[in-house]
Amino acid sequence: MDINIDTVRVDVIKPEIGAVVHVDRNAIFEPAVAQRIMELLEIHDALIFPQINLSDKEQLAFTDALGARVNFTTTVPGGDADTRDVYKITLDKDKNPEPEYVLGTFFWHMDGATINIPVPKASVLSSRKTSPTGGQTQFSNTYAAYEALPEDEKKAIENLRVVHSVVAAVREVASPDQLEPMKRGAAQEQPLVWTRKNGRKSLMIGYSADYIVGMSKAEGRALLARLLEWAAQPRFCYSHDWKEGDLAIWDNGGALHRVIPYPADSGRTMHRTSIAGLEPTN
Ligand SMILES: [Fe+2]
Repeated sequence: MDINIDTVRVDVIKPEIGAVVHVDRNAIFEPAVAQRIMELLEIHDALIFPQINLSDKEQLAFTDALGARVNFTTTVPGGDADTRDVYKITLDKDKNPEPEYVLGTFFWHMDGATINIPVPKASVLSSRKTSPTGGQTQFSNTYAAYEALPEDEKKAIENLRVVHSVVAAVREVASPDQLEPMKRGAAQEQPLVWTRKNGRKSLMIGYSADYIVGMSKAEGRALLARLLEWAAQPRFCYSHDWKEGDLAIWDNGGALHRVIPYPADSGRTMHRTSIAGLEPTN
């Protein structure tokens, strides 16, 4: 097939985050187009492909074209039933008997920050059924949020370490009985400021960020709360109102995301695939 990568058209959503990408759906599997999409991701942090309507098989092929595939949610109930490596996100009680992990996504987070793998490079999310109310996914650019911090604040946090844990990620939604066994669940120490080999820096924050190593709980959590409030300023954020068939990709190590609450019986269903991180945080 003759593919011209100039056919990739980009509409910038906001200066600090977001771009809509218009591209022929048959072209997205081509290496040159995939490479262009990864370059755009580096620039815009979150990309929207309006109503591109990929099947699971096509979403997996697109994910594979963009990088190495990773699946870190195989043990989540309802996880990748039906199609391997495609994580179904729903609150539908018939499909997801343990909704706490999905309810935890109502709060700002990075995917995979609590487990012992390189943080996934990017998440690929497609809308299969929307909710009549709520359900917008919001993204915050944590490279831009870091960059805009006052210099003295950057200096104060540059060498801090933060522990991300599953128990912190679901603290707002789980009962004490549910939380107890989770306390033995996954936890991972990360740098609070992640510096890439290319020099770019992002903040590793969000609700899974439990405490700062070497700081009192109160002081550490207050710092994490302040940084989260900073990153959630409208200038760093984009809120996407889904249409069925839309697909989004975000730079997971340099973005937070959350969903605006939606009714469990709305049937809202999203399918997620993930691109492996190649650069360890440590
Ligand atoms: Fe997520």
